[in-house]
Amino acid sequence: MALRPIICLPDPRLRLPSETVEVVDASIHALMDDMLETMYEAPGIGLAAIQIAVPKRVIVLDVAKNDDPPAPMCMVNPEVIWSSPEKSTYEEGCLSIPDYHEEVARPSRVKVAYLDRNGVRQEIEADGLLATCLQHEIDHTNGVLFVDYLSRLKRERVMKKFQKAARLRELGGEPEEE
Ligand code: NI
Repeated sequence: MALRPIICLPDPRLRLPSETVEVVDASIHALMDDMLETMYEAPGIGLAAIQIAVPKRVIVLDVAKNDDPPAPMCMVNPEVIWSSPEKSTYEEGCLSIPDYHEEVARPSRVKVAYLDRNGVRQEIEADGLLATCLQHEIDHTNGVLFVDYLSRLKRERVMKKFQKAARLRELGGEPEEE
């Protein structure tokens, strides 16, 4: 297993739709292991492969509470096949948008189809934090970020902040505080 660097806004690769995985082979298992290690180290509760610059439809999650044992989940080609009309609101963050959190309303329950580690098709019905986390990570495989659900004003503000920080890094300076 290896830690992989996480790419952040405004990296344009975060906007790429990822490719469908044809075969869940050893290279995908190695990718999942690296993703889990990188996610736990960050720390975070979900990670999509594109966030470590691998444009494949693979996500990992662990929404276990701090006191509970780890409960890693790995999904290949995950897809929302049903979502509830009711919505829930959670304060979301993203390892690719560090130090930024905003409330997002999403369907409170979803059914997701995916391939497991053995390449077998599975379905899971989720609610609560897992439902939100699944939708957030599946969005990444489609090039969608949680800031896309915010008002235009808020989205433009956060995009500008990260663009400015990137420019300052290029110039060799430290990003300033607002
Ligand atoms: Ni994210």
